[in-house]
Amino acid sequence: MLSLIQKSEEGLMKKVVFLSGKKVNLRPYDKEKDLRNLLRWISDPETRQFISSHAQFPKSLEKEEDEMRKRTTGPENVFLIIETKNHRPIGCMGLHKIDWINRTAESGASIGEKKYQNKGYGTDAKMFFLNYAFNTLNLRKINSAAFSFNKRSLAYNGKCGYKIEGVFKRQFFRNGKYHDAIMIAVFKEDFQNIWKRYQKAD
Ligand SMILES: CC(C)(COP(=O)(O)OP(=O)(O)OC[C@H]1O[C@@H](n2cnc3c(N)ncnc32)[C@H](O)[C@@H]1OP(=O)(O)O)[C@@H](O)C(=O)NCCC(=O)NCCS
Repeated sequence: MLSLIQKSEEGLMKKVVFLSGKKVNLRPYDKEKDLRNLLRWISDPETRQFISSHAQFPKSLEKEEDEMRKRTTGPENVFLIIETKNHRPIGCMGLHKIDWINRTAESGASIGEKKYQNKGYGTDAKMFFLNYAFNTLNLRKINSAAFSFNKRSLAYNGKCGYKIEGVFKRQFFRNGKYHDAIMIAVFKEDFQNIWKRYQKAD
């Protein structure tokens, strides 16, 4: 049985909040709580088709742990877990390849709990995450890429200020076909007005 001290420590851990959004909180990765969720989310065939090629191979818990160690450490990475306001983990969001000279980075995200997709959680997380990237980390431009068939990702990124910069033709093989990769990016100055409007909206 858990002692009272253990219980209250667990309660405090539950309350770690790094970014507080309107619909979500974002908090640091916690191996004990998150590793199995991340493996479950990334293994899901529906979600996996939208994610980069490394996710197309089956992963053991050990392999996922290794990858998470790399994604959550070092000055070129920021990685956060997305939670509902009730502290239910529903996905993750990160910056990688942060370049502190050019002040650029690549963003990636997933709402892994499928019943929480399409309900505005991704947009809310991305808005507060970009505000952190631009107005705390002082980054200048965030790049990303989506497969041409991932209309939802293009739509939610577009709402957060990303614009199409180019297309890599027939770059990715998914579901038996080659697909274009749509290269998108958002600049700090374009984000700031969107952010002001977002903060004022209900
Ligand atoms: C992409 C993802 C992070 C977006 O998060 P989300 O919480 O589901 O998205 P939101 O509900 O905030 O916004 C989705 C928007 O796309 C729109 N949308 C959904 N399906 C669409 C479609 N087929 N075509 C056009 N727009 C679409 C929605 O209407 C919504 O816009 P609205 O709020 O103006 O109505 C999430 O769906 C996800 O994790 N998907 C699987 C993995 C993935 O694709 N990761 C990104 C890889 S680039």
